[in-house]
Amino acid sequence: MSRRSNRIARSLQQLNREPAAAILAPSAPIGITAIPAAAVTAATNKVTKPNKSGRAVSKATDDKENNDDSNEDPSAEAAPKKKRKVVATKTTKEPESPLQGDGKTRCIWADNPRYPLLQAYHDEEWNYPDGFNHTNRYLFELLILEGAQAGLSWSTVLHKREAYREAYHQFDYHRIATTYKSPTDNDRLLQTNIVKNKLKVQASIVNAKAFCELLEELYPDQTGLDDMKGFWMFLQDYKKKASKKGQDKEPTEYLTRSAESDRLSEDLKKRGFKFVGSTIMYAYLQAAGIKQDGIQHTTGCFRSHK
Ligand SMILES: *[C@@H]1O[C@H](CO)[C@@H](O)[C@H](O)[C@H]1NC(C)=O
Repeated sequence: MSRRSNRIARSLQQLNREPAAAILAPSAPIGITAIPAAAVTAATNKVTKPNKSGRAVSKATDDKENNDDSNEDPSAEAAPKKKRKVVATKTTKEPESPLQGDGKTRCIWADNPRYPLLQAYHDEEWNYPDGFNHTNRYLFELLILEGAQAGLSWSTVLHKREAYREAYHQFDYHRIATTYKSPTDNDRLLQTNIVKNKLKVQASIVNAKAFCELLEELYPDQTGLDDMKGFWMFLQDYKKKASKKGQDKEPTEYLTRSAESDRLSEDLKKRGFKFVGSTIMYAYLQAAGIKQDGIQHTTGCFRSHK
């Protein structure tokens, strides 16, 4: 391997562990990454294939994987499946002939009628004032999906959401914690249509156990999947407190982390959670509708509270 591809390999490994704040786009479900698509495509071509070396991969499966599983390809967002090859070689700037939108202005990451799942998620769930859904199950689902996203586009993860629901027993954390015990069990998950990344799969199982333990310890009467005063209550402690004068400054910048997300990340790590770095937790809190510093819905977005 050349020195350059070594460097890329290292940064991709890092990327698998935790997204470096700098390379991720500002707001939560990161629809657009700042890495030039072509660079990433080149890098993943070089690096991820050898990573899969345990398996003899025929050309056919290989192609299939590249199509089905945009796994480690953050350019997936910019390049819908059929056109990926073409688009990936250009920069993402040039807009294609637009589909007819619905006339609503959205946050830039969701403002594209070509991505209906992303739009619906933005319109209905993301950053809903005081939370779209307070159930333990939903908050666990978001936690797993945000972790799975690291290094990928949020759109990629949304496309796999149904696969996740199926593979993870509708995000029944009790069941996940007790079902997956050995590496072979994990391999079964890797054969489904979820993001095929060993570390992420391992982390999700570790997190299911840690999630159960947290609830049992702090909210013993709220451990059920549909209980709404378990993890939701836990998160309240990471809300941005109103400033003393009772007058918050108008947020003017995108952040990728905050004092609250730093603290949440530390607290969860102490409890054994994985893939809960501060950037991921910032995105998580934003997504869950826990008030944070920084721009939430972009000014002008029809969902903006201002
Ligand atoms: C909340 O999310 C859970 C898990 O996805 C779902 O089962 C439940 O129906 C949702 N509740 C509401 C009110 O949307």
